[in-house]
Amino acid sequence: MEYQVLGSGVEDWETLILLYNSALKEIGTKVDILNDEFQHIHQYNPIEHTKMRVKTSESIVRKLRKKGYEATIPNMQKYVSDIAGVRIICSFTSDIYRIADMIRNQSDLKILEIRDYIKTPKESGYKSYHMIVTVPIFLSDSVYDTKVEIQIRTVAMDFWASLEHKMNYKFESNVPEHIKKELYDCAKMVSDLDERMLKLNEEILKSAEAEK
Ligand code: GTP
Ligand code: MG
Repeated sequence: MEYQVLGSGVEDWETLILLYNSALKEIGTKVDILNDEFQHIHQYNPIEHTKMRVKTSESIVRKLRKKGYEATIPNMQKYVSDIAGVRIICSFTSDIYRIADMIRNQSDLKILEIRDYIKTPKESGYKSYHMIVTVPIFLSDSVYDTKVEIQIRTVAMDFWASLEHKMNYKFESNVPEHIKKELYDCAKMVSDLDERMLKLNEEILKSAEAEK
């Protein structure tokens, strides 16, 4: 069986989309299994829910043009890392690192890049943990390492990011200063809330343990 190197090999759009859809299925199953195992060992689900999507062709082309590349199939594989995207939403910040570790330990995945916007938030206040991984997809006569962007964040971070995304979309690049500032303040509140909820949860667990 021919083992194709990332960013080469696929020449037609249909196969490309087939690969990215398959990659989402593979990662989705892995995440489900990890969640079930975690439930089995710790009697608790670290994952609230997951969302997945394959980027539309228009959006892929727009991104390539923005980066200054021609809209070709090889360029899509090489320069767009989030054609297949998975978002994992959990309750507590500690869950994020737990999930990231479990993903890192999967020996069939290759980790290409990690960006921790929780330790170092973006200027806007954006917080989330990003991983770019590849998962091998087995077709009838070859294997393709296919890129997937995984974003892991808390419910509160996700709430904030959705609103901020909507705002950027509405105003394009001309966001009024007072809205930017208000959102930045909200990002601080999100961090405070996440921290307090985590501490509260730890306290609840401890006192439940003591009662046993
Ligand atoms: P792109 O932003 O996708 O071009 O890639 P990048 O190389 O800059 O990677 P980065 O990790 O910064 O962002 C990847 C994805 O994270 C984006 O496509 C968004 O889904 C999300 N993201 C990054 N920054 C922000 C932000 O400031 N606000 C929101 N709402 N989402 C963001
Ligand atoms: Mg970006």
